[in-house]
Amino acid sequence: MSIKSIKKKDRAGELIQKNKRIFKCPVCCGKMFMNDFGSLTCNSKHSFDLSRKGYLNLLTAGNTPVYSKELFEARHLVCESGFYDPLIVELSKIINEYKKLRNNEEISILDAGCGEGSHINGILKKVTENQNKTYVGVDISKDSINIAARNNADIIWCVADLARLPFQNKSFDVALNILSPANYSEFNRILNDKGIIIKVVPGSNYLKELREIIYTDKDVSDYSNNKVINYFEQKLDVEEIQNINYKFHVSNEFLPHFIRMTPLTWEKSTERLNDIYEKNISSITVDLTLIIGTKKR
Ligand SMILES: C[S@@+](CC[C@H](N)C(=O)[O-])C[C@H]1O[C@@H](n2cnc3c(N)ncnc32)[C@H](O)[C@@H]1O
Repeated sequence: MSIKSIKKKDRAGELIQKNKRIFKCPVCCGKMFMNDFGSLTCNSKHSFDLSRKGYLNLLTAGNTPVYSKELFEARHLVCESGFYDPLIVELSKIINEYKKLRNNEEISILDAGCGEGSHINGILKKVTENQNKTYVGVDISKDSINIAARNNADIIWCVADLARLPFQNKSFDVALNILSPANYSEFNRILNDKGIIIKVVPGSNYLKELREIIYTDKDVSDYSNNKVINYFEQKLDVEEIQNINYKFHVSNEFLPHFIRMTPLTWEKSTERLNDIYEKNISSITVDLTLIIGTKKR
């Protein structure tokens, strides 16, 4: 093991030990703590090793990955290019305001379905007064968490199912759910009574330049996120809905990363994908809806 990975693992172990109160044993629901061998353990001796990269795998059953490692690597490059920066700025602003409302008390933030981790990582860099904050990123894909843990040792990274979150009741103040599936009963359970949830969903023009080429047979502006918003409203009180809409300049050399980062292009013929290059797309639209909610009162 290299010195760098020992340091990373130690740093992650310290962070997890400091925040052990948030964890719940995925097997027996008991309280957890870091043992002398660097594993997260409960009193019934269910034990979960910290990987060399510094993340925990808290899945109790196997799962077949839906997204490939290649997709997450491409998504990472796209995020690093600044494609989602306006979204990160907005999310950081909302969290900063929320923290002020809570008189700068200690808060914990969960990104459920965090993918390769760039969003919560970007928020950590942008949110002011980073003391008194715990950041946790969870995704069911080990490949995505591997990339996430490579890039930030100040965030607790867990491979886990967001439908069976390995956290105690009311252990988070902010739950983020960005372009990922939701499980509102779990989100309600882990959120404290004053907590907020921010769900980010695509708007009708999201990636429209790519979709127009891929789906020649349908009107791409037909998509509406009303159903998702209505379902959210049934489960939580909606405080605010915001839209973010902008165009991001892309060069032809960078286009392959956009094609690889989205499931939209899966199972599409090479011919259709070649069309994307030939159309000389110079910009791609980001159209997102942020739904901010609280527990039902
Ligand atoms: C479209 S990606 C979005 C990832 C990231 N939030 C982003 O915006 O780049 C959807 C993510 O949800 C994750 N996911 C799907 N089902 C999940 C589950 N049951 N528990 C945790 N993560 C899940 C996938 O592995 C994937 O990383």
